[in-house]
Amino acid sequence: MGAIFQSLGRTLLAGVVLLVLMVLATGANVAGSDAWWAFFMRWLHVLSGVLWIGLLWYFNFVQIPSMPKIPDEQKPAISKVIAPEALFWFRWAALSTVITGLLLAIMSGYIASALALQRPFTPIGIGMWIALVMAFNVWFIIWPNQKKALGIVTVEPAEKAKAARLAMLTSRANTMLSIPMLFCMVAQQNNGF
Ligand code: HEM
Repeated sequence: MGAIFQSLGRTLLAGVVLLVLMVLATGANVAGSDAWWAFFMRWLHVLSGVLWIGLLWYFNFVQIPSMPKIPDEQKPAISKVIAPEALFWFRWAALSTVITGLLLAIMSGYIASALALQRPFTPIGIGMWIALVMAFNVWFIIWPNQKKALGIVTVEPAEKAKAARLAMLTSRANTMLSIPMLFCMVAQQNNGF
């Protein structure tokens, strides 16, 4: 067990093996029909979404509130090591969530109706628009400003402070948007609202 859990790659692989064993043992339907592939895409979509929003909430629930409590000489552990790593998974999980979500809507046959907010796809349409705005914020506001704030890109101290504030406020805006966005994501399966 120790050999598996000491490696993240092996741990994730073990999760997939466990899933395959579970599917085989329960005789779950893996027929490979169009509906099954849409279900498979929904699973990939939720995995990506959990990684994205999990890291967004980590930043907002844990990292940002903890920064003022950390002595200055220890701050580089966050700004030079943890934050860049977290931001790597954060932005790519955001992109993966968008791609799998759009593919899921295409495979479900309602992408145009949903984006046009037509009934009965209004809930998922609203959720998709909110999540697209959030993904735009990640790639075009949070990430470029975090690069300045963390010193990945060198700028004047005043610009660095401004960038850090803008990244933080946009991250907060995304945290706010995540509440109605997630409601809309799950509302579609529940006959909307
Ligand atoms: C632009 C980004 C996104 C797009 C295009 C998108 C698209 C979709 C679509 C088409 C569905 C299927 C709805 C249905 O027919 O039941 C869905 C469901 C869902 N999405 Fe997203 N989504 C996005 C972002 C997110 C994010 C950030 C999360 C965060 C976790 C998320 C979590 C979920 C969940 C939990 C479901 C429900 C699955 C179910 O009820 O079986 N989505 N999304």
